[in-house]
Amino acid sequence: MKILIIGGKGTIGQKVSSHFSKKHEIITGGRNTGDVKVDITDCKSIKAMFESVGNVDAVVCTAGEAKWAAFDSMTEEDFYIGLKSKLMGQVNLVRIGKDYLNPGGSFTLTTGILADYPVVLTASAAMVNGAIHSFVKAISLELANGIRINAVSSGLVEDAVEKYEAYFPGHNPIPMKKVINGYIKSVEGKGTGDIIRMYDNC
Ligand SMILES: NC(=O)c1ccc[n+]([C@@H]2O[C@H](COP(=O)([O-])OP(=O)(O)OC[C@H]3O[C@@H](n4cnc5c(N)ncnc54)[C@H](OP(=O)(O)O)[C@@H]3O)[C@@H](O)[C@H]2O)c1
Repeated sequence: MKILIIGGKGTIGQKVSSHFSKKHEIITGGRNTGDVKVDITDCKSIKAMFESVGNVDAVVCTAGEAKWAAFDSMTEEDFYIGLKSKLMGQVNLVRIGKDYLNPGGSFTLTTGILADYPVVLTASAAMVNGAIHSFVKAISLELANGIRINAVSSGLVEDAVEKYEAYFPGHNPIPMKKVINGYIKSVEGKGTGDIIRMYDNC
């Protein structure tokens, strides 16, 4: 398979890319890192990326940002960071990318545990994760040509423990092998419209 991995050099993306590169052709994308430059907040940039990469069999997105801050302190603009990046960035990847996906191809988006189990400071991050879950379920009913779509939702991943542990008291970090399995299930499995949760109830 030819697999495009946006965010393929990030904490999760580099492990996912490294795994898939054993069996598949991998192209990684990012604003400053990867084989192809793309900013998912910019539709022109997404379109230019697909024009340069051409048709693919799978698109995996492990990119997308949202502002973490106390709700009291958040402005409307602060919410737009997550809406434009993690939410609409991934929605636009699907909206534009569906025309570059081979029949039977797949999209795999990334959300996270905050959709189900938010922690403080995550009003925006939790909200966009939940929105993506609804988007995935709805759009799986409409994608043509056998194209599938799923979201992988991990808990705090082992490789990010140092950075985020303080925000997730009592959470069990998710082993990277388990995280990678979520992406394998989405890309190499047959499911669609699935939210692949890689965590136990917290
Ligand atoms: N870390 C965790 O424990 C965890 C758990 C569950 C879910 N998640 C979610 O998983 C995703 C990835 O997390 P991570 O920890 O791997 O993040 P990360 O280490 O910051 O990596 C994110 C990657 O995405 C790229 N990126 C960011 N914004 C982009 C944009 N606008 N356009 C294109 N590429 C962009 C970055 O590359 P450039 O800088 O080159 O653009 C980077 O390679 C995030 O949505 C996060 O919320 C993370």
